[in-house]
Amino acid sequence: MKPKVYITRRIPKEVVEKIGQLCEVRMWGEEDVPVPRQVLEEEIIEADGLFCLLTESIDESLISRAKNLKVISNMAVGYNNIDVDAATRRGIMVTNTPGVLTETTADLTFALLMATARRIVESTDYLRSGKWKTWSPMLLTGQDVYGATLGIIGMGRIGEAVAKRAKGFDMKVLYHNRNRKLEAEQTFDLEYADLQTLLKESDFVCVMTPYTPETRNLIGEKELSLMKKTAVLINTARGGIVNEQALYEALKNGTIWAAGLDVFEEEPIKPDHPLLKLPNVVMLPHIGSASIKTRTRMAEVAATNLLQALSNQTPEHLVNRELVNR
Ligand code: DGY
Repeated sequence: MKPKVYITRRIPKEVVEKIGQLCEVRMWGEEDVPVPRQVLEEEIIEADGLFCLLTESIDESLISRAKNLKVISNMAVGYNNIDVDAATRRGIMVTNTPGVLTETTADLTFALLMATARRIVESTDYLRSGKWKTWSPMLLTGQDVYGATLGIIGMGRIGEAVAKRAKGFDMKVLYHNRNRKLEAEQTFDLEYADLQTLLKESDFVCVMTPYTPETRNLIGEKELSLMKKTAVLINTARGGIVNEQALYEALKNGTIWAAGLDVFEEEPIKPDHPLLKLPNVVMLPHIGSASIKTRTRMAEVAATNLLQALSNQTPEHLVNRELVNR
């Protein structure tokens, strides 16, 4: 009997076929609509493997319905949508897709930084609205990126890839992380700083840390007030790390200069989201890893993790490693 796998969204055909060679596959068929909770609650009962996205909340009440589940394979590097402890207690493996999206996400982080600093979106809107009358000395002037100080909060793979790009712009790079990264300090010429110092001294602050109970609202009113009035905040990690209400106030009152956001506390955001009304914010619909190549690679890696777990191997990207070290 082939193991039963449920896939919560349409993924590249080749990847479904690869899973289908070894498993009996069922898949939610609507392209841009998340699987309804009720459907997932039914499907998980008999599934041996779940292939899911960050849009699904795989919480304890869902996990507890599963009779045969061996693996939850998340097609993302972040797995804050999964109750990993609940899965571990039941001996269910949780896997993610690190590595393959590092460079693509760093590219997008830098694109957002540049777009925000140089007011790219605002300038395009200005043209579209027919306001451009003449070249003007101070028209749509922004902040310099080259030679500025970049503060990176969270020095994982993506943080390092952003630091590497910053070096090409002659930036001084500060970082803050739970543990010091001595090797990365040498390789990427980084300076460790406590959070307060980083916030005070940086011209650009990039939030790159995982989303955990400890990092929830890590950047709030107090932290924003420490930043320079000319500073730019970039978040391509998870929305909940930055307090959105505090950020809105800081952008509106000129506490900081601008923000570039790819992620939000609640996704998707509504068209009447207050931040959308501010000119000094560039906002994107969580597209950090969205290149064709990378999203395809993420689906492939998630499929490999899933198949490894279902054939009694240890998946390469196992999150709850304690299951194999028991
Ligand atoms: C992730 O993988 O966690 C990103 O947010 C989506 O690529």
